Amino acid sequence: CAIAAVLVRKGVERRAKWSRVVGVLREFEEGCSTSGHRLRQVVDAMAVEMHAGLASEGGSKLKMLLTFVDNLPNGNEKGLYYALDLGGTHFRVLRVHLKGTKQKILDHKVEKQAIPPHLLTGTSEELFGFIALTLKRFIEKEGDDFELQPVSRRDLGFTFSFPVRQTSVSSGFLIKWTKGFAIEDMVGKDVAECLQSARTMLGLDVRVAALINDSAGTLALGHYHDEDTMVAVIIGTGTNACYIERADAIIKCQGLISNSGGMVINMEWGNFWSSHLPRTPYDVDLDAESPNPYDQGFEKMISGMYLGDIVRRVILRMAKEADLFGEVGKSLSEPFTLRTPLMCAMHQDESSDLREVARIMEETLEVSNIPLRVRRLVVRVCDAVTRRAARLAAAGIVGILKKIGRDGKGGSSSNSSEGVRRTVVAIEGGLYENYSLFREYMRDALEEILGEEMSQNVVLRLSQDGSGLGAALLAAAVSSSSSLSSL
Ligand code: GLC
Repeated sequence: CAIAAVLVRKGVERRAKWSRVVGVLREFEEGCSTSGHRLRQVVDAMAVEMHAGLASEGGSKLKMLLTFVDNLPNGNEKGLYYALDLGGTHFRVLRVHLKGTKQKILDHKVEKQAIPPHLLTGTSEELFGFIALTLKRFIEKEGDDFELQPVSRRDLGFTFSFPVRQTSVSSGFLIKWTKGFAIEDMVGKDVAECLQSARTMLGLDVRVAALINDSAGTLALGHYHDEDTMVAVIIGTGTNACYIERADAIIKCQGLISNSGGMVINMEWGNFWSSHLPRTPYDVDLDAESPNPYDQGFEKMISGMYLGDIVRRVILRMAKEADLFGEVGKSLSEPFTLRTPLMCAMHQDESSDLREVARIMEETLEVSNIPLRVRRLVVRVCDAVTRRAARLAAAGIVGILKKIGRDGKGGSSSNSSEGVRRTVVAIEGGLYENYSLFREYMRDALEEILGEEMSQNVVLRLSQDGSGLGAALLAAAVSSSSSLSSL
């Protein structure tokens, strides 16, 4: 009888623990929920913040940075250009041969290298020394093509994917670091000058013709292939967007730039914030423990650097709540042990017993004997995090479309006599490229917000190598003089 009583008590305890775990999941799912109504609030907030950021410096958390790119490539560019692409986990050097024909043929070589982790927190001299040396070796290996260009003029497009206050198309000061970079002596310095000093030391003969953000590079490549490309979005380690704005709408710079034509604006949307964003206690903790608290709020809900860690935090809470895996090991408690590509693999595990989920959790979080029902919960956590990220990114895009009058609502800036115009959004970044469910959720949300008919006019196009190729294209384009006519 006593044994029976113990068994009953244990059964009751087990059920109570399990219902607490399910409770954690439900609460999290609710916290992440992005109803159509909420997404439309985010759309409106994005458009409002864009106006505010364009009206005055510091008018919004959206910096709405000038790029001085008022001339996008059109396919006539010709010659040999180099590009450097720095901004995520990898650093790339490119050599791009532009044929100058309308067929838009590009011939290019790329070399990709992981950035040694110690350089992310070292000194600017070390980082730029590494960049210049990699470029030097690349040029020596690939050689110049004398027929294409005299060697005295090696023009370079430099993609530097951090917030930069540009002073011209080829120079600008680093405002702050994002995405885990933290080289203090670099903040406030001219990025092109840092590269210049490093290459002078190495006796390397190149000129930074264009200093750009990765979003601007993606827009340039998108526009090169399809002139309806008005917006570019990055969804990788970080997230950001840029778009073509009418010069007369950039109120904060009236007088500084020519009033006709347009300019690419780097929104730095990773820093967007609105009370309508669905924020959970896990986001609050992640932010507080990050190197840049109160910063990059949108980015922390959307981009590859953070999604895996939100999932880890929820699993940790579940584990603690119900003693799911016995004693919680170091890996589960430590930030960033669960990288986003692994989260994506767990989410997309199609095996009936979710064995990939179990394998990844065992290997990275050091937990074992994970029952199937727990694996299922983990997949639901991944789903909630990914859905929210993809749907918020879609709302951000519609916010931009609204601002430029291309959301089909015939707002003040749209020209209704032209009818609804096709708009292409070029999207680049590992998270978007390698995560089919993310793409699916994003497309669905776009349709939900815009309506099926209107959403047919918005093309989300995957772009590859745009941040690097686009830099080379822009280096070529800045030497020609016509300004943006596509507005
Ligand atoms: C971060 C950077 C931004 C960049 C984005 C994507 O948000 O601040 O400049 O475009 O990451 O790489």
